Amino acid sequence: MSQQNEALFNELSGLDKKHIIHPSTNPKLHSEIGPKLIFESGEGIYLKDMGGKTYIDGVSMLWNVNVGHGVKELAEAAYEQMTKAAYTTTFYGYSNEASVRLAEKIAKVTPGDLNAIFYTSGGSESNDTAFKLSRSYWDIKGKKDKKLIISLRRGYHGVTIATQRATGIDAYREFSGSGDPNIVNAKPHMTECELGDKSHPEYEGSIRSIIEREGADKVAAVIVEPIQGAGGVHVPPEGYLKAVRALCDEFDIHMIADEIICGFGRTGKMFGVDHWDVVPDFICAAKGMTSGYVQLGGVIMREEIRDTFFTYDGMLPHGFTYSGHPTACAVGLKNLEILERDGLIENAAAMGEELQKGLNYLEDKYSFVGNTRSRGLLAGFDLMEDPAAGKPFETIKAAATVVEEAYKRELLIRPFDFTPGMNIVAIAPPLIVQKDEVEKIIAIVDDALGAFAKTL
Ligand SMILES: Cc1ncc(COP(=O)(O)O)c(C=O)c1O
Repeated sequence: MSQQNEALFNELSGLDKKHIIHPSTNPKLHSEIGPKLIFESGEGIYLKDMGGKTYIDGVSMLWNVNVGHGVKELAEAAYEQMTKAAYTTTFYGYSNEASVRLAEKIAKVTPGDLNAIFYTSGGSESNDTAFKLSRSYWDIKGKKDKKLIISLRRGYHGVTIATQRATGIDAYREFSGSGDPNIVNAKPHMTECELGDKSHPEYEGSIRSIIEREGADKVAAVIVEPIQGAGGVHVPPEGYLKAVRALCDEFDIHMIADEIICGFGRTGKMFGVDHWDVVPDFICAAKGMTSGYVQLGGVIMREEIRDTFFTYDGMLPHGFTYSGHPTACAVGLKNLEILERDGLIENAAAMGEELQKGLNYLEDKYSFVGNTRSRGLLAGFDLMEDPAAGKPFETIKAAATVVEEAYKRELLIRPFDFTPGMNIVAIAPPLIVQKDEVEKIIAIVDDALGAFAKTL
């Protein structure tokens, strides 16, 4: 690091420690050591920090920078909109061209008749809004008791009071001891149970068993991520999402797909549900909707839900200052154009196969690597003492160690180790990644695993 950069880094680091409480960060540690990295610029799959080091962004930051870093067209789209009208509201029936054009475009790329959107500024807001719209829909239909939301263990749906409760990861779910009590977690991916096999030894705790216990007249919606992300990249078994769809139909309950990670090409199709030909009632989106360049989210709903809201003759008391933000929508529109024009979703599918080949190689090479899995460019693997026997590392922080070793080699990837014995590593590079770059990522992970192996 140059002397000038070092002085600036030290200044910013001191100010950061003093003035910012960081999300998903250890506050005590942060107050002692300050920021690990201060990013300066980005290009493609690479990020440069103030020290002049260049890192491969192997997780697209928070699995959201789908088109990669430094895309000037997105900046230009923002500039163009900002210099016309940076912000106008969509309250009181006001509108703006960018939000209309994006809504029309999204209606075209979503499955089935998911043709109307309620705009938000992020993922938590989208899921929170979907819960409220679902409950409010049932209110309008005269079914005022349908309030319960069922989500899955290991699911991650955000950090608002409602979405933290839907999240099935205890650290988040229990934080601050609050949370909407009308939200319960079911066991994840119990396909047979959801199809109706009540003799299954694990039936208790399935979505179906909760509906049975509570009564369908009390349940508003089921929310699932097509592929669970922060819970550890869990791809559902074949038939699972279709079983949930059928269950929701059987009991007249909404199915909400949390596509906040999966949406906009991450899994090699536009939406995660597209892999299983499932049409949910609501799709919640954010992240890849603008590739993270600006904050934008939305709840996309089926026409019948939209039409039910059209019968509501009063002011809809919900909305965010930034719902339908013109600059965010202009960026969202350009982002979708780039995804399609540059074939990035097809690239995600093809590069996903390369990534999985690399992971298979690592699984063969290291006895402690298991359950490598992926869809498109959403991938993960377990680190276990004995994956075949399902024996975890009891005390060793394997995922954190491997991720740290990768970091030393200038690759950013993510550990998931919320519960004892959980050691999952996630890889999710931008959708523009090329074959030689995937090989580089695998080579670095290989070295990091080798370094970890030496500590055993
Ligand atoms: C699947 C999923 N849902 C919801 C959220 C919450 O989104 P946000 O952090 O934008 O509120 C996230 C964030 O990581 C997510 O991965």
